[in-house]
Amino acid sequence: MTVNTTLPLSPPTREPTTATSDPALVTGLARFLAALRHDRGDATPVWFMRQAGRSLASYRALRRRHGFLELCKTPELAAEVTLLPVAELGVDAAVIFADIMLPVEPMGLELEMREGVGPVIGNPVRTLDDVERLRPVEPEADLAFVLDAIRLVRRDLEGRTAVLGFAGAPFTLACYLIEGRPSRDYARAKALMYGAPAVWDALMGRLATVTADYLLAQARAGADAVQLFDSWVGALSPIDYARYVQPHVARIFTALKDAGVPSINFGAETGGLLEVMAAAGGDVISVDARVPLDEAWTRVGHDRGIQGNLDATRLLGSWAATEEGARDVLRRAAGRPGHIFNLGHGVLPETDPALLKRLVDLVHEETAEG
Ligand code: CP3
Repeated sequence: MTVNTTLPLSPPTREPTTATSDPALVTGLARFLAALRHDRGDATPVWFMRQAGRSLASYRALRRRHGFLELCKTPELAAEVTLLPVAELGVDAAVIFADIMLPVEPMGLELEMREGVGPVIGNPVRTLDDVERLRPVEPEADLAFVLDAIRLVRRDLEGRTAVLGFAGAPFTLACYLIEGRPSRDYARAKALMYGAPAVWDALMGRLATVTADYLLAQARAGADAVQLFDSWVGALSPIDYARYVQPHVARIFTALKDAGVPSINFGAETGGLLEVMAAAGGDVISVDARVPLDEAWTRVGHDRGIQGNLDATRLLGSWAATEEGARDVLRRAAGRPGHIFNLGHGVLPETDPALLKRLVDLVHEETAEG
């Protein structure tokens, strides 16, 4: 397969898609966009964070032949991986196969995905000089492989399934950039945040600009919506979130809203942060499994959508435990428009994909209209 880079840049799809009982017109895309618009679709849309990963034998087979970054940087392979869970699980959204760390290389940082550790940065960012040395990123040139993968996926799906782009949020990226590797408590990153707030704000400002530009480029390449991953932001109090994170994240969501790009704001361990996260923006707020979905939705406000929030480890327990948890999530969502079913965080590598498939079918059957 060759990448046809002369394809017209299709604008993000936002044609009104009304709920209908004609099966030919009821698509995952329509369901997903309805929830993002806070409308009722024909059923609750469902996808899983980390759906394209090590839980799938087909992914593990590809990984035996290719390095992780090689998969990400080869549009044909990234598109192939993105489509695996669409075919195998029947999810309503295809999250593009990439990683939150990809934009840091064009910023001038040395990135290694170390086996069994995660992302490692050879030259961490710790001073104002380090921040000022960071290079601006031009997504169309520097991250063309992600945009080409989006174009390929979109062409293959032909509007049946939503294409979901994503990026890492400034706080989560800043943690990696400052620490240089995954950390348990982000002590070094938070020490810089409290001890050198001017350096912190300079770094967060750069990251917000890169992230907003990158997400807008993904939408221009054909992503129907985008998710911002703030995986580690649960390490902050709501007061510190409001001071050190919210202004930067708000800038990203404002840029998306102004461009008409639907968005999801994800964080983990955010039971103390839901109000300030919602204030920062996003059409849908994604919540982890530690907060009951109905309580989370009340705190976020029913004018917003909600995503979540089955505990991913239930799938390691049994189908009965998975079904019980899924029914509880659906009962708490109570059929309100604006719910996107997901796990609280990513699929665990040991998960049996057959249970994920059953879970997709259960959510669709239990929420189908009529
Ligand atoms: O299916 C999908 O969700 C799309 C692909 C995706 C990956 N990473 C692929 C991946 C997405 C959305 C991400 C986001 C990401 N990357 C986040 C935010 C989401 C979250 O889980 O909170 C974070 C924190 C990262 C950084 C990262 N990338 C880590 C910490 C690791 C190591 C994790 C591990 O278990 O090894 C990665 C590597 C990574 N990213 C893998 C995958 C499929 C595993 C790589 C492999 O095949 O060995």
